[in-house]
Amino acid sequence: MSDARVKESVNPLARNPLDVLASAHALQSEMCDAMERIADGLPDEVDRRLCARVASCLQFDLPLHHHDEEACLFPILRNRALPEDRVDKVIERLASEHESDNDFASEISEALELLAQGGRPDNPDMLGYMLRGFFERYRRHMLWENALVLPLARLRLNPDDLAALQARMSENRRQAG
Ligand SMILES: [Fe+2]
Ligand SMILES: [Fe+2]
Repeated sequence: MSDARVKESVNPLARNPLDVLASAHALQSEMCDAMERIADGLPDEVDRRLCARVASCLQFDLPLHHHDEEACLFPILRNRALPEDRVDKVIERLASEHESDNDFASEISEALELLAQGGRPDNPDMLGYMLRGFFERYRRHMLWENALVLPLARLRLNPDDLAALQARMSENRRQAG
């Protein structure tokens, strides 16, 4: 194994932090597909293990990722972006979506944990509606980040910015630890 690979296996954030954020989006996209499968199967066809996996992702991975973006990426990008990039409004909107998505995510994860433990939803139609509302909105959210925010960050952030971003994201994990 090369030195770089060894370093990466010790600390996953040793790779480009923008790649770490892009990988998180790929996993979140799978999470959205899983939520769609769960919604399609309600009320009778419930894959309990899938519900448990999605619940854990909503409860732990999503808030950490939102913090990576809000407390780490967005301030650095705001600082580095040029006026013609006009990214301030987009960042503001994405950050406000994080806030409402964190609230919905914790509500949905509670319901999915109940299903994971073999319970039946009190109101399957409402749960299906909540799941669909969430994954449809979240796919749009990721589209903006993948199409606009990450490419702009790759263009504007210099090596020092990337090192600062990596350090902040590592600290974020240590605190969540
Ligand atoms: Fe985001
Ligand atoms: Fe994101």
